[in-house]
This record gives sequence, structure tokens and C-alpha cells, in this order.
Amino acid sequence: MIYTITLNPALDRTLWIEKIQPDDANRIEREQRYAGGKGTDVSRVLTTLGVNNKALGFVGGFAGEELEGRLFNDGISCDFIRISGETRTNIIVNVISTGSQTVFSARGPEIKPYELMQMIHKVEKLEKPEIVVISGSLPPGVHPVIYRKIIEIAKTRGAWVILDTDGDAMRVGIQGIPDAIKPNIHELSRLVGEELKRIDAIISAAQGVREQGTGIVLVSMGARGIILVGEKEQYWAYPPEVKVENTIGAGDSAVAGFVYGMVEGKSHKEALTYAVAAGTATTLMPGTALCQKEDFLKLVPKIKLHVMGG
Ligand SMILES: Nc1ncnc2c1ncn2[C@@H]1O[C@H](COP(=O)(O)OP(=O)(O)OP(=O)(O)O)[C@@H](O)[C@H]1O
Ligand SMILES: [Mg+2]
Repeated sequence: MIYTITLNPALDRTLWIEKIQPDDANRIEREQRYAGGKGTDVSRVLTTLGVNNKALGFVGGFAGEELEGRLFNDGISCDFIRISGETRTNIIVNVISTGSQTVFSARGPEIKPYELMQMIHKVEKLEKPEIVVISGSLPPGVHPVIYRKIIEIAKTRGAWVILDTDGDAMRVGIQGIPDAIKPNIHELSRLVGEELKRIDAIISAAQGVREQGTGIVLVSMGARGIILVGEKEQYWAYPPEVKVENTIGAGDSAVAGFVYGMVEGKSHKEALTYAVAAGTATTLMPGTALCQKEDFLKLVPKIKLHVMGG
């Protein structure tokens, strides 16, 4: 079974308002709710691509019930741990007259130590874990060592583990020796403490990270595609020029694309082209909508692959 883990999922509430008038009542023209979370987005794309998977994480309160219900309605199979706090709700305000978008991002509920232990026990007892995807930020107050611990347990259970996070969560997480990580160029820059721009600098930074044990480093660079640095392989895959609607969830889709390749028994090289195709397919969709299989399949043969010097 393929599992995704999202410790800090969120309910995204998007509002459309004609114009903001301070000190007055503002009428909401339209409203949309979406069950968000980086790992759950990976689960959505895997499901779209036909990969059976299960989303794990923490949910609590009415917002948590709604989040789970929405995922359920979208056909995503979940196995969340219920917590005493309330799942966060992010508010996104679109002002129609100006076209501006403002995001109010909530911190998320505090996770009690016994709730954290429930997650550890869940990972210890996962049924036939083949691939485990760990994505996104940590809830407030949770020590980044949690990712390291989850990775160590999942690996002991025989799973192939990929980590996609930022900051301390990534820095400490990689001590658990994940099989792969997928930082974007900014996240890799923060990880190595140097602003990376040039391709050769990105490759040597990724090699440096590999020396600490990580199997493969996938560095995503938006429209410039993804660089894969592995033990004896270095590839750069990039997409054709496309009409981008919205890049939300592109990185999560890329992770799902790579996992899809692994599930299909493809080489790292091919899985990399799937990652780029899935990421770019998501940019074709408006708002929070993610990759469609048809766009993904059309893009796969259009991804250019460079084999780089070893
Ligand atoms: N402007 C773009 N044009 C074409 N493809 C894109 C563009 N932006 C992103 N992509 C595709 O999505 C993949 C991942 O994007 P990106 O590097 O932006 O991830 P990320 O920063 O981790 O995103 P996220 O916000 O989802 O975490 C890219 O490798 C590429 O295939
Ligand atoms: Mg990302």
C-alpha cells in the first residue's frame, strides 16, 4: 500500500468579494471550501493516476470532520487520527474588482504528546507499507524529530520513503535517511544555507545533501523542471512551455508523478519525466484543482530529458 502523511492539514475557505469596504459589512459573492494539505494533495493526484493509496494525518473538531468528509466525497481513502484540537481553516480572499488575492494562513491545532504517539504507533503497524510520502509543515509545538522518527520506522518496515518539507523539519527529517527528498530550489537553498541559482551549484548542493545519506534528491525549479541527483545518476527533465493557470499544488503533483513511476516499476529517469509531467499538468488547472490524467498523459512524451555528467 502507498501512504501519504500530512500532520497539519487545513480546510481552505476561499471567498470572493466585489470590493473590500472597511468598517462596513462586505457581502460575500461566492464561497468555496477545499480539503487542503500537501500529503492529501499527493493522495488526490495518485488517485487520479489510478494508484491505490491511503492518506494519514491528524484531524480534529468540526473542521476536521468536514475535511475528512470532503476527501471522502472526492474518493480519497483516509485513515486519520482524531485529535482534541480543531483542524485549522485558512481563509483566502479574492477581491473581484482588483483581482487581488490575500491568504490568511492559520497555525493549526496543538498536537498532544499522546496524539503524536498514536501516529508513531500507526506507522509501526502500517499494513504492507511499500511507499510512504511525508509532506508539508509541522503543526505548532511538534518537534521536527517526528519526521526523522516516522522515516526510521517506515524504513524498518520496508517502505521506500520520500520527504517534502522545509526548514527545520527538512533539516532534522533527513537524519532519518529518507530514500528521496523533493525540495524546491528555495527549500534546498535554505537547507544548505546558500542561495542557489545556477544548475551546477544546485547539483553540488544536492550532492552534499546526499552525502548525509538521502538516496535521491529531486530539486524542483518551477517552469525549469526538476533535477534528479542520485548515486550514479544525474538528470534534468523540463516541461514544454505551457499556458499556466495556477501553480498551487504543482510540487505535490510532481511528488505524486514520481511515486506513480515507482509503482509502475519505471527507472528513476522515467519516473522523473512523470514527476515533471504531473507538476506541469497541475499548472494547467485553475485554482486549487490538480492534475488531470489526460493532460498528464499528453505531457509525458513532451518532457525533455538531459542526462548530466556523473
Ligand atoms: N510555470 C510553470 N510552467 C510549467 N511547469 C511548471 C511551472 N511551475 C511549476 N511547474 C511544474 O511543477 C513542478 C513542481 O513545481 P515547483 O518547483 O514550483 O514546486 P513547489 O515549489 O514545491 O510547489 P508547491 O507550491 O506545490 O510546493 C515543476 O517541476 C514543473 O514540472
Ligand atoms: Mg513544495
